This record gives sequence, structure tokens and C-alpha cells, in this order.
Amino acid sequence: MKLPEAGVVEVNPSILSADFAHLAEEIALIERAGVKMVHLDVMDGHFVPNITIGPVVIAGLRRHSKLFFDSHLMITEPRKHAEAFVRAGVNHITFHIEVEDKPEEFIDILHNMGVTAGVCINPETPVERIEKAAPLCDMVLVMTVHPGFGGQQFIAEAAEKIPRIRQVVGPDVRVEVDGGIDLRTAPIVVSYGADTLVAGNAIFSKSDRIAAIEAIRSAYARR
Ligand code: DX5
Ligand code: ZN
Repeated sequence: MKLPEAGVVEVNPSILSADFAHLAEEIALIERAGVKMVHLDVMDGHFVPNITIGPVVIAGLRRHSKLFFDSHLMITEPRKHAEAFVRAGVNHITFHIEVEDKPEEFIDILHNMGVTAGVCINPETPVERIEKAAPLCDMVLVMTVHPGFGGQQFIAEAAEKIPRIRQVVGPDVRVEVDGGIDLRTAPIVVSYGADTLVAGNAIFSKSDRIAAIEAIRSAYARR
């Protein structure tokens, strides 16, 4: 499955704030809102202080959805586990630059496994760390919160890295933003050059998920 073409802004719901007892239904709902992808937050309790889901849950969801599965691996050893996630059915793997010394090599490995690849940068990590690897990616992920939990406050200075990253990757690579995206911050990151907006709390804390997605779309369309 192909990553939707860069340049067209997409809302990418993160199921981290969804009802985990009804994940398949939650994904079916957002699919009805016309989203093209879903963001799966994988945490190992080591790289980040929280633990979420792994390949077993993702393989279960794969049987219920045709959406593009964007996996965000917040784990210390992404190389060790990448293949298990590919087998579980993810379409894209994002790893963190903070735990990878040879990102260019790992991007190649991911491509050879048949998935698209992304490098992610934490709020305190400088853009220079990903400047060589970023143009080789299909999507680059910029964290605008410290990874680990949904519902945190947007860090404006972290978002200020987006224009430089867009300049480095050009128009053909998606630039994804993750953390604190809502009606106020979505237009800001789009104006900086992001085209993929991860949103957890802003969607799944609302009783009407479809209306919440529509509201984010109108917020950036109005800017
Ligand atoms: C945080 C995760 C995010 C998170 C975003 O570590 O990577 O994907 O779910 O959630 P919100 O939109 O609630 O900040
Ligand atoms: Zn994420």
C-alpha cells in the first residue's frame, strides 16, 4: 500500500487516546470520516516511560482495516523488531534518530522489507541530526511533545524546526507532526510546511470523532 502523495494535507488519527476495548470500531469510524491513514504509537517502557501496543494487536487490527498503517516506534531497538511489525501488516515504519546511529542504512533495510520509512526527531534534538537521512525518507516525523503520552501541550519551539525540514526534504517527502495538534495548532504547522497532522486527543476525546476530524480540516483550510 502506498503512502498518500505528499503535499495534500491529511489528518492522521492516533489511536492512543481511543477506546482500547473497541479499537476496530474506532478505526472503522475514522475510516468513515475519509482519513487515509492511521497512526499507531508503539512504546516499550524503555525509550519512553509508557507501554502501549505491539505486533500482536496491530496484526489483529490489520484484519479489520484497509487504511494505511503508519507505525511510530518509540522503542530502543527498532532494528530488532522492524520485521515483526512488517509481518503484522504495517505500511510505514518511523524510528527515532535518538536511538539509531546509521539511519541511512536502516531506511534502506526498511525499503527492502517493502514498507515506507521515516525518521523522527524529538523536541530537544537539533535538525542537523536528520539532515542527511531525511531526504531518503518517505515521511519525516517532527515531535511537538515529549513522546510517551497523548493529550500533552504543544511545544511551539519544536514546531519551528518544520520550515527547515521542509527545505531539506523538498516537496515530495511528507512532513508529519505529532503532539498537541488541535484546532489552534493545526493551521500553524501547515503554514510551516507540514502535510501530515497526527491527532489523538483532539479526535478521540470528542464523542463525535467524525465531526472532530472535520473541524481540524476546516481549521487548516481557513488559515
Ligand atoms: C505521543 C504520541 C502521539 C500522541 C499524540 O508520544 O507519539 O502520537 O498520541 O497525541 P495528542 O494528539 O493527544 O497529543
Ligand atoms: Zn506518535
